[in-house]
Amino acid sequence: MIRFDHISKRYPDGTMAVDDLSFEVREGELVTLVGPSGCGKTTTMMMVNRLIEPTSGRIHVDGEDIATVDPVRLRRRIGYVIQQVGLFPHRTILDNTATVPALIGWNRSKARARAAELLDLVGLDPKTYGSRYPQQLSGGQRQRVGVARALAAAPPVLLMDEPFGAVDPVVREQLQDEFLKMQAAVCARRSW
Ligand SMILES: Nc1ncnc2c1ncn2[C@@H]1O[C@H](COP(=O)(O)OP(=O)(O)OP(=O)(O)O)[C@@H](O)[C@H]1O
Ligand SMILES: [Mg+2]
Repeated sequence: MIRFDHISKRYPDGTMAVDDLSFEVREGELVTLVGPSGCGKTTTMMMVNRLIEPTSGRIHVDGEDIATVDPVRLRRRIGYVIQQVGLFPHRTILDNTATVPALIGWNRSKARARAAELLDLVGLDPKTYGSRYPQQLSGGQRQRVGVARALAAAPPVLLMDEPFGAVDPVVREQLQDEFLKMQAAVCARRSW
């Protein structure tokens, strides 16, 4: 599904963020990058959807060399939960969650129905939270919306950069457990 071949990234100021990294992720696999702050995790993830271009090496997604794929087309197949959540402040929780389905042309009611389903899946009742705005949610709830939004269009690839970093260790563990269940549920429903 994703293959890194000898990927390196040197930033213009000379910082070597990633040095000769090779690995493979198969379909259905959950892979975690673990390492100290500044070791290159975010850089590695951002190279998968071409928000950052490698200095050398090749990345394949679904058999295609992504250097040859239009970045916009590539990103529509990749859900991304960024490190600081990044919800749109002037859109409701439901509309935030429906962002990608709406972008890829689903009709409004189908996109909103899917968004409600996903909010439910991350433990946020859409009737209570759907019409709120991001600033009316706790940090941990916002992070769940970020995850729901990334899952909404059932992308074949999902990148998550510390998606549960804003919650305490106890709640984080609960969310991680929920996420594993969610992943199993979403995988089982890939007919979407
Ligand atoms: N635009 C940039 N220009 C120069 N150096 C950068 C740039 N972005 C990141 N770096 C450096 O590249 C290295 C890797 O950064 P990266 O953000 O990938 O780390 P990380 O593993 O995600 O860290 P954290 O756990 O703190 O999020 C760090 O030393 C960082 O300072
Ligand atoms: Mg990071």
